[in-house]
Amino acid sequence: MAVEFSKESKAHFEEILTRYPKKRAAIMPTLWLAQKDFGYLSHEVLAYVAELIEESPAFVASVASFYTMYYKKPMGRHHVQVCTNLSCALVGSDNIVNCIKEKLGIGLGETTPDGKFSLDEVECLASCGTGPMMQIDDDYWEGLTTEKTLEILEKLAAG
Ligand code: FES
Repeated sequence: MAVEFSKESKAHFEEILTRYPKKRAAIMPTLWLAQKDFGYLSHEVLAYVAELIEESPAFVASVASFYTMYYKKPMGRHHVQVCTNLSCALVGSDNIVNCIKEKLGIGLGETTPDGKFSLDEVECLASCGTGPMMQIDDDYWEGLTTEKTLEILEKLAAG
């Protein structure tokens, strides 16, 4: 079955288009909207976005592949992104990554079998003074210890 935006997303897409001089310029918010609607950007979704903004699927795929915030595969309900850049590394981000790996039983770039969590390490999230830190979905968690990290994961797992 061909992918298609929900009625609400179609209206949102039309509103997005009013903000840009050309459809092509609306590629990033349209990809974001598509990700929200479909969960991730499959080849079919990329082709759909290409059709919407009147561009080639290759152009749309090239933009989607450049940014880590666009998911190219199915993700868990919660996306755990641990910053392992220099400032966070100096205050123990490796311990945080290892603690999460052990707790969830997955490696970087993987999703738990129950579909609840996906884990990634990421570059600087601009919260260098409060490391080690991670982003889960839209929330920042800062000044992490392994205890605090486990507490956060347990709360999310129970929710
Ligand atoms: S180095 Fe981790 S937030 Fe900047």
